[in-house]
Amino acid sequence: MGRMQITLAILKPDVAVNPHIVYAIDKSILRNKFLIIKRKRLRWPKARAEQFYFQHAQRFFYRRLVEFMSSGPIEALILAKRNAIQDWRLLIGPTKVYKTQHTNPNTIRGQFGLTDTRNAVHGADSEESVHEEVAFFFPEFDVGKWNTKGHYLIP
Ligand code: PPS
Repeated sequence: MGRMQITLAILKPDVAVNPHIVYAIDKSILRNKFLIIKRKRLRWPKARAEQFYFQHAQRFFYRRLVEFMSSGPIEALILAKRNAIQDWRLLIGPTKVYKTQHTNPNTIRGQFGLTDTRNAVHGADSEESVHEEVAFFFPEFDVGKWNTKGHYLIP
Protein backbone atom coordinates (compact mmCIF):
# COMPACT_ATOMS: atom_id res chain seq x y z
CA MET A 1 0.00 0.00 0.00
CA GLY A 2 2.91 2.35 0.61
CA ARG A 3 3.10 5.56 2.54
CA MET A 4 -0.15 7.30 3.16
CA GLN A 5 -1.02 10.56 4.79
CA ILE A 6 -3.93 10.71 7.20
CA THR A 7 -6.37 13.50 7.81
CA LEU A 8 -9.19 14.18 10.23
CA ALA A 9 -12.70 14.80 8.96
CA ILE A 10 -15.88 15.66 10.83
CA LEU A 11 -19.42 15.18 9.58
CA LYS A 12 -21.30 18.03 11.25
CA PRO A 13 -24.75 17.74 12.86
CA ASP A 14 -26.61 19.03 9.77
CA VAL A 15 -25.50 15.97 7.80
CA ALA A 16 -24.74 13.45 10.57
CA VAL A 17 -28.44 13.28 11.55
CA ASN A 18 -29.37 12.14 8.05
CA PRO A 19 -28.35 8.57 7.15
CA HIS A 20 -28.98 9.21 3.45
CA ILE A 21 -26.47 12.07 3.43
CA VAL A 22 -23.94 10.14 5.52
CA TYR A 23 -24.24 7.35 2.95
CA ALA A 24 -23.74 9.77 0.04
CA ILE A 25 -20.68 11.33 1.70
CA ASP A 26 -19.23 7.87 2.43
CA LYS A 27 -19.61 7.01 -1.25
CA SER A 28 -17.86 10.22 -2.21
CA ILE A 29 -15.01 9.47 0.23
CA LEU A 30 -14.49 5.98 -1.20
CA ARG A 31 -14.97 7.03 -4.83
CA ASN A 32 -12.16 9.52 -4.28
CA LYS A 33 -9.90 6.71 -3.07
CA PHE A 34 -9.67 7.60 0.60
CA LEU A 35 -9.50 4.75 3.09
CA ILE A 36 -11.60 5.11 6.21
CA ILE A 37 -9.19 4.14 9.00
CA LYS A 38 -11.40 4.94 11.96
CA ARG A 39 -14.76 6.52 12.58
CA LYS A 40 -16.59 7.50 15.71
CA ARG A 41 -20.09 8.80 16.15
CA LEU A 42 -20.52 11.00 19.19
CA ARG A 43 -22.21 14.05 20.64
CA TRP A 44 -20.20 16.96 21.93
CA PRO A 45 -20.99 18.57 25.24
CA LYS A 46 -20.72 22.32 24.68
CA ALA A 47 -17.41 22.42 26.56
CA ARG A 48 -15.83 19.97 24.08
CA ALA A 49 -16.89 22.09 21.10
CA GLU A 50 -15.50 25.19 22.83
CA GLN A 51 -12.22 23.38 23.39
CA PHE A 52 -11.99 22.14 19.79
CA TYR A 53 -12.62 25.61 18.33
CA PHE A 54 -10.77 27.63 21.01
CA GLN A 55 -8.55 29.29 18.38
CA HIS A 56 -11.70 30.92 16.95
CA ALA A 57 -12.90 32.16 20.37
CA GLN A 58 -12.60 35.81 19.35
CA ARG A 59 -14.44 35.41 16.04
CA PHE A 60 -17.98 36.72 15.64
CA PHE A 61 -19.25 33.25 14.71
CA TYR A 62 -17.70 31.37 17.66
CA ARG A 63 -20.89 31.05 19.78
CA ARG A 64 -22.92 30.09 16.72
CA LEU A 65 -20.34 27.48 15.72
CA VAL A 66 -20.14 25.98 19.23
CA GLU A 67 -23.95 25.89 19.60
CA PHE A 68 -24.33 24.22 16.22
CA MET A 69 -21.57 21.65 16.71
CA SER A 70 -23.05 20.57 20.06
CA SER A 71 -26.65 20.55 18.79
CA GLY A 72 -26.65 16.97 17.50
CA PRO A 73 -24.56 13.95 16.58
CA ILE A 74 -21.26 14.29 14.77
CA GLU A 75 -18.97 11.74 13.16
CA ALA A 76 -15.19 12.00 13.30
CA LEU A 77 -13.22 10.06 10.69
CA ILE A 78 -9.56 9.35 10.14
CA LEU A 79 -9.06 9.18 6.36
CA ALA A 80 -5.92 7.97 4.61
CA LYS A 81 -4.64 8.63 1.11
CA ARG A 82 -1.55 10.13 -0.48
CA ASN A 83 -1.93 13.90 0.09
CA ALA A 84 -4.98 13.23 2.24
CA ILE A 85 -4.99 16.65 3.93
CA GLN A 86 -5.02 18.66 0.72
CA ASP A 87 -7.22 16.23 -1.20
CA TRP A 88 -9.89 16.21 1.52
CA ARG A 89 -9.95 20.02 1.62
CA LEU A 90 -10.38 20.02 -2.17
CA LEU A 91 -13.15 17.43 -2.03
CA ILE A 92 -15.11 19.31 0.65
CA GLY A 93 -14.77 22.73 -1.02
CA PRO A 94 -14.42 26.23 0.48
CA THR A 95 -15.96 27.11 3.86
CA LYS A 96 -18.40 29.76 2.67
CA VAL A 97 -21.24 27.72 1.30
CA TYR A 98 -23.15 30.56 -0.33
CA LYS A 99 -20.17 30.99 -2.67
CA THR A 100 -19.18 27.34 -2.86
CA GLN A 101 -22.63 26.35 -4.16
CA HIS A 102 -21.81 28.41 -7.25
CA THR A 103 -18.03 28.08 -7.57
CA ASN A 104 -17.59 24.42 -6.52
CA PRO A 105 -21.05 22.83 -6.82
CA ASN A 106 -19.70 19.27 -7.01
CA THR A 107 -17.83 19.42 -3.70
CA ILE A 108 -19.34 18.00 -0.51
CA ARG A 109 -20.10 21.46 0.88
CA GLY A 110 -21.36 22.56 -2.54
CA GLN A 111 -23.81 19.66 -2.58
CA PHE A 112 -24.82 19.31 1.06
CA GLY A 113 -23.92 22.57 2.83
CA LEU A 114 -26.81 24.87 3.71
CA THR A 115 -25.19 27.99 5.21
CA ASP A 116 -21.79 29.20 6.43
CA THR A 117 -22.55 27.53 9.77
CA ARG A 118 -24.29 24.41 8.50
CA ASN A 119 -21.54 23.58 6.04
CA ALA A 120 -21.70 19.78 6.31
CA VAL A 121 -18.08 18.82 7.01
CA HIS A 122 -14.77 19.82 8.52
CA GLY A 123 -11.26 19.08 7.31
CA ALA A 124 -7.99 19.49 9.20
CA ASP A 125 -5.86 22.14 7.49
CA SER A 126 -2.28 21.05 8.32
CA GLU A 127 -0.21 18.16 9.64
CA GLU A 128 -0.10 19.89 13.01
CA SER A 129 -3.90 20.15 13.11
CA VAL A 130 -4.22 16.50 12.13
CA HIS A 131 -2.03 15.47 15.09
CA GLU A 132 -4.04 17.60 17.51
CA GLU A 133 -7.44 16.64 16.15
CA VAL A 134 -6.71 12.92 15.91
CA ALA A 135 -5.57 12.98 19.55
CA PHE A 136 -8.72 14.94 20.45
CA PHE A 137 -11.09 12.33 19.01
CA PHE A 138 -9.01 9.15 19.06
CA PRO A 139 -6.61 9.25 22.02
CA GLU A 140 -6.15 5.50 21.58
CA PHE A 141 -4.84 5.94 18.01
CA ASP A 142 -1.16 5.10 17.79
CA VAL A 143 0.24 8.43 16.65
CA GLY A 144 3.71 6.98 17.32
CA LYS A 145 3.45 5.17 13.97
CA TRP A 146 3.68 8.53 12.18
CA ASN A 147 6.98 9.25 10.53
CA THR A 148 8.56 12.68 10.57
CA LYS A 149 6.81 13.69 7.34
CA GLY A 150 3.40 13.14 8.89
CA HIS A 151 2.80 9.95 6.94
CA TYR A 152 1.45 6.77 8.34
CA LEU A 153 2.52 3.32 7.21
CA ILE A 154 -0.50 1.15 6.47
CA PRO A 155 0.48 -2.49 7.09
S1 PPS B 1 -10.57 31.21 8.91
O1 PPS B 1 -11.01 32.58 8.67
O2 PPS B 1 -9.87 30.65 7.76
O3 PPS B 1 -9.84 31.07 10.16
O4 PPS B 1 -11.87 30.46 9.15
P1 PPS B 1 -12.35 29.19 8.40
O5 PPS B 1 -11.29 28.15 8.34
O6 PPS B 1 -13.00 29.61 7.15
O7 PPS B 1 -13.43 28.72 9.43
C1 PPS B 1 -13.08 28.24 10.69
C2 PPS B 1 -14.25 27.48 11.23
O8 PPS B 1 -15.31 28.37 11.53
C3 PPS B 1 -16.47 28.03 10.79
N1 PPS B 1 -17.12 29.24 10.33
C4 PPS B 1 -18.33 29.64 10.70
N2 PPS B 1 -19.21 29.08 11.53
C5 PPS B 1 -20.39 29.72 11.70
N3 PPS B 1 -20.72 30.86 11.11
C6 PPS B 1 -19.86 31.47 10.25
N4 PPS B 1 -20.19 32.63 9.66
C7 PPS B 1 -18.59 30.85 10.03
N5 PPS B 1 -17.51 31.15 9.28
C8 PPS B 1 -16.62 30.16 9.47
C9 PPS B 1 -15.99 27.21 9.64
O9 PPS B 1 -16.98 26.34 9.19
C10 PPS B 1 -14.81 26.48 10.24
O10 PPS B 1 -15.25 25.36 10.96
P2 PPS B 1 -14.69 23.92 10.54
O11 PPS B 1 -15.28 22.97 11.51
O12 PPS B 1 -13.21 24.03 10.63
O13 PPS B 1 -15.23 23.71 9.16
